[in-house]
Amino acid sequence: MTTSTTTTRRPADQAPPRYPMRRGCPFDPPAELRRLREERPISRVRLWDGSTPWLVTRYEDVRAVLADRRFSSDSSRPGYPANSPGVQVTRRQTPSFIAMDDPEHARYRKMLIGDFTVRRTEALRPAIERMVDELLDAMAAGPRPADLVEAFALPLPSMVICRLLGVPYSDHDLFQRLSRRLLDTRVTAEEAERNNGELRDYLRELVAAKQADPGDDLVSRLVGRIRSGELTRDEVVGMARLLLVAGHETTANMIGLGVLTLLRHPEQAAELRETRDPAVVSAAVEELLRLLTVVHTGRRRVATEDVELAGALIRAGEGVIAAGESANRDPARFADPDRLDIHRGTNHHVAFGFGIHQCLGQPLARLELQIAYPALLRRFPDLRVAADLDDIAFRDEMVVYGVHALPVTW
Ligand code: HEM
Repeated sequence: MTTSTTTTRRPADQAPPRYPMRRGCPFDPPAELRRLREERPISRVRLWDGSTPWLVTRYEDVRAVLADRRFSSDSSRPGYPANSPGVQVTRRQTPSFIAMDDPEHARYRKMLIGDFTVRRTEALRPAIERMVDELLDAMAAGPRPADLVEAFALPLPSMVICRLLGVPYSDHDLFQRLSRRLLDTRVTAEEAERNNGELRDYLRELVAAKQADPGDDLVSRLVGRIRSGELTRDEVVGMARLLLVAGHETTANMIGLGVLTLLRHPEQAAELRETRDPAVVSAAVEELLRLLTVVHTGRRRVATEDVELAGALIRAGEGVIAAGESANRDPARFADPDRLDIHRGTNHHVAFGFGIHQCLGQPLARLELQIAYPALLRRFPDLRVAADLDDIAFRDEMVVYGVHALPVTW
């Protein structure tokens, strides 16, 4: 059989394919990932800088990498497979615990865990429901078609994270613009340095303002730790920066791309609109998280010692990319993985990562999505996309996938 020759071919026999690969269908990961998952579940790929880290594509192997402390998240280590020159510079300029290993990582994460428990997050429900209602009221009163991203998907998570952190929402143009540039893989190192410097200066001012006049918010609580000598001002800035950027871009894109996906599955959208069962809503959100995996260019790690994985020997100092976007479509884990099925049930996807860096904000992201999708569908039962699919700009070049804009009407 022809496939067996491909399977037995050694990685050195072929030039490694470029990663990230190009998507064919905007709703599915690149077809090349499926081929690799079937034929060569661990193989070399080539990145923007010519480096050739390992790419791991199967669900079990992705989880194994993310659970293994021998793989480091420290992007200052040689061999770390950076997303782009801009992301590389940003991580170096403003270190935060997403790019650290334990025990340093745990020290920072522990200071925040109390703010992100399911219980603490649930207390935000009434405020989030109010924000959703206000945004949908404004959208209904505005012109048709409307851009769903501008009217709803982006403002909602931005307002929520602002409230939590104590960042004035009136500054949203600034931090949304800078976050967008920081997550754009086409941005040069020089521009990234400038953008990141601007965001850092903004957050330094915010920290200074909270030092002078603390409020009941997360940044003020962290500022309290400067006073007690546990944190420096720049450490607080790094933590606030991570939360501000991670806290709005990801959820915003899950809303935008999630709504587009639901509108292409009208029966499942109708069910989500009509149900009053929180378990159905929760299962639908998990399924969209799995299917869309908006953080779509792999979790990046570097080996600190030699590790054998899936028959390959990864040497100390070599980069590894655990492709969550492929793991979440692995048929060995998810039956009929390319299909949206809001009744899929137990859904241990890796859209929030896995292991010690698993998303800290996941209870908040879940709550926002569980409120946002049904509320939007109920408020606009005739909601439909007001553009051809070919005219919708997908975020292929961004660290977080989604749509740049989504014209809708009702
Ligand atoms: C649907 C929305 C979201 C998705 C898909 C998502 C995805 C992820 C993923 C994949 C990681 C793992 C990174 C790694 O392994 O290197 C992560 C980490 C993280 N996320 Fe999220 N995230 C979302 C929302 C949020 C929100 C709302 C916040 C904050 C309020 C947040 C804060 C964080 C933080 C702080 C980390 C780093 C955790 C650590 O290193 O210990 N995320 N997220």
